[in-house]
Amino acid sequence: MLAPASRTLASVLRDDLDLTAAKVACGRGECGACTVLVDGRPTMSCVTAVALVRGPVETLEALAEEVTDLREEFADAGAFQCGFCTPGQLVHAAALARRADELVAEDDLPGVVRDRLSGNICRCTGYQAITGAVCAVLARRAGAEVPS
Ligand code: FES
Ligand code: FES
Repeated sequence: MLAPASRTLASVLRDDLDLTAAKVACGRGECGACTVLVDGRPTMSCVTAVALVRGPVETLEALAEEVTDLREEFADAGAFQCGFCTPGQLVHAAALARRADELVAEDDLPGVVRDRLSGNICRCTGYQAITGAVCAVLARRAGAEVPS
């Protein structure tokens, strides 16, 4: 598929490909609602020109099965209210979960998760439940004790 180079990745995904899980909220690269993975890296698709995309793009639609445990943990932990930020949170968390062994070995896992997810803004929940849910999944995937 061809698209003008100046178009954003978010607009091509949402408007041309009907992949609408990535939300556009601020449209300025400040909130993370539009996060997708580009070559495995969390990327704000609202400020990424399609011409600059190198590597495969993974949206939440593509990651649906991979994030099953994250979705369940978010639900159990009450880690969303309006849910507008949740697709971006889950996509970013999916990238962290792929590195679960490495991240769980860090001294301060909640601090690391908070830091990594700091670009994903949530106006509803505060961040404790989100951080807790992601830590629990990372620990489980790494075969470590789930933090209480
Ligand atoms: S909508 Fe892309 S960072 Fe806010
Ligand atoms: S759940 Fe509403 S912004 Fe995060």
